[in-house]
Amino acid sequence: MTGTGKVRIWDPFVRIFHWSLVAGFFIAYFTEDDLQTIHNWAGYLVLALVVLRIPWGFIGPRHARFSDFVRPPAVIIGHLRDLARGQARRYIGHTPAGGAMILALLGFVLLTCLSGLTVLGLEGEGPLATLKASWDPRWEDVFEEIHEVLANFTLLLVLLHIAGVLLESWLHRENLIRAMVTGDKRAEDTPEAAGRED
Ligand code: HEM
Repeated sequence: MTGTGKVRIWDPFVRIFHWSLVAGFFIAYFTEDDLQTIHNWAGYLVLALVVLRIPWGFIGPRHARFSDFVRPPAVIIGHLRDLARGQARRYIGHTPAGGAMILALLGFVLLTCLSGLTVLGLEGEGPLATLKASWDPRWEDVFEEIHEVLANFTLLLVLLHIAGVLLESWLHRENLIRAMVTGDKRAEDTPEAAGRED
């Protein structure tokens, strides 16, 4: 508890990770056509962030850990059903559906970055530059296509993620976006306030 009826939920790493990921993702997405250097550096930033977030999911504080928000499919489906009825309970960390979306976002951001690195390598640039000499040049078109499809699918996930955040914020009268900035959430109804492990 912080002494003001609030509890610290998101640690500084998670918050800096999140907003840097948002900036990196959108910069990369909107510079792919004609600002190639910026696009590449934004892609490297996003890749580095996701690679760092994975170990943090094992060694970070409680609500940053995968064990805190990765839940079985039955729990996720139950939560989505409750959401559709407008009766989903409040979670102090990520919700079950939010947790599943986080895994999907991390996975597809990673695949998008790896396919981008492959395209770059096939052009004889970046850490995979040796691919140009060893692979048939026709793979470049194939990987460009794969990279674009993955980026667009990730954008679709991002839009669903934002819709989910807005829905949960409205349902529980709680500004989840501000919580991802300050790190704090209201303490009432929390397992911490009730002395529960949840
Ligand atoms: C303006 C756009 C965005 C807003 C307003 C937003 C908002 C949020 C909020 C409020 C949370 C915490 C959810 C909760 O309370 O459980 C969150 C988590 C998360 N968001 Fe976003 N988000 C945005 C864009 C993105 C983008 C573009 C990505 C990835 C490409 C992303 C990936 C994530 C991830 C991975 C988490 C989990 C954070 C962690 O535990 O490390 N978000 N987002």
